[in-house]
Amino acid sequence: MLSVSAGNVMLSNRKFRYIFLLVACTLLLLPGCDPLTRYKVTSTIFDGVPDLPPPAQFCEEYAEKKIAEAQATLAEKDAAKNKLSGSTHFPYEEKRCNDCHDKNKEGGLVQPKNKLCFVCHTDFIQGEFVHGPIATADCLACHEPHSSLNPKLLKTAPEKVCALCHTNKRAATAMHDKFAARKLLCVDCHDPHFGNAQFFLR
Ligand code: HEC
Ligand code: HEC
Ligand code: HEC
Ligand code: HEC
Ligand code: HEC
Repeated sequence: MLSVSAGNVMLSNRKFRYIFLLVACTLLLLPGCDPLTRYKVTSTIFDGVPDLPPPAQFCEEYAEKKIAEAQATLAEKDAAKNKLSGSTHFPYEEKRCNDCHDKNKEGGLVQPKNKLCFVCHTDFIQGEFVHGPIATADCLACHEPHSSLNPKLLKTAPEKVCALCHTNKRAATAMHDKFAARKLLCVDCHDPHFGNAQFFLR
């Protein structure tokens, strides 16, 4: 039912003023994040808006904000990349647990650890020169048996895996320092397992 009484008109006037205030406030808040836009908007609508801070301070704040934004996106991208680069062992993914596990055997595995991997990765070692931990079949020094956040079931990031053991200064230190500075991975040049050249160079 509609009845236009004096009281109602008063009320909608007050309502209108309220809505106007709300819109004005929103205008102030909308461009709130960027001080330059905020200054432009507010100084167009109102008089007596304080001047912008000196350019140096203004630029610094702006640069800091932009850098923070860029870093946030980078961190996001990194997280996404890390997720993508994870790996899962095929028999684990297929839930073929018993291909490796046997409760009735000592150690609970179908074969002792230094033989287990060769059950499926047959004739694995092919090369005249064999890397120390491969010669002792210590695959688990570098690999997880189930899954990993890193590619190829690696225990740690590809750029860190060799440093699990090789922490001593190398004979060819100066040369290697140059490679490290160029962000080359050890496995760009060395096979991690074996090879037909000395030092398993690829
Ligand atoms: C490719 C072989 C392989 C497959 C397939 C496999 N495992 Fe394992 N699992 C291992 C090895 C090797 C270890 C011992 C790891 C160590 O000692 O570092 C292990 C350890 C474990 C452990 C001990 C705790 C731990 O994580 O170290 C549990 C529990 C386990 N596995 C459960 C499972 C289940 C459940 C499945 C199937 C969904 C499965 N495994 C499939 C090889 C395998
Ligand atoms: C039951 C059989 C089986 C056993 C035992 C087994 N693997 Fe595998 N492994 C596979 C299969 C199948 C693949 C997938 C091969 C392919 O994609 O070409 C694979 C792939 C891999 C890969 C490559 C993963 C990738 O993301 O590309 C690694 C590393 C690996 N195995 C390490 C091991 C290690 C270390 C052991 C011993 C703990 C082991 N495997 C024991 C069957 C096995
Ligand atoms: C010293 C560390 C280390 C040890 C020990 C090691 N691996 Fe690896 N493995 C690697 C790295 C690093 C890669 C990834 C190579 C690449 O990206 O080029 C890899 C990759 C693999 C792959 C994927 C196919 C390929 O050649 O890229 C298989 C399968 C594999 N390893 C099996 C084994 C088995 C089986 C053993 C034990 C006999 C073993 N690894 C021991 C470091 C190791
Ligand atoms: C689990 C420990 C371990 C890890 C991880 C490891 N190594 Fe080794 N590495 C050894 C051992 C042990 C030797 C043999 C010691 C020796 O001959 O001086 C060796 C020897 C080598 C040699 C030959 C050195 C020589 O003088 O003949 C090279 C090259 C090498 N490793 C490269 C790598 C690379 C590349 C990685 C990463 C993919 C890696 N290693 C990761 C243990 C490891
Ligand atoms: C650009 C290629 C390249 C990269 C990347 C590289 N190496 Fe080498 N590495 C070589 C060459 C070439 C030799 C042989 C040097 C010689 O004959 O004196 C060598 C020799 C070695 C040796 C045996 C001689 C010594 O100095 O002790 C080890 C161990 C070694 N590298 C480990 C590593 C590790 C660990 C990494 C990663 C941090 C790595 N290399 C990265 C090319 C490379």
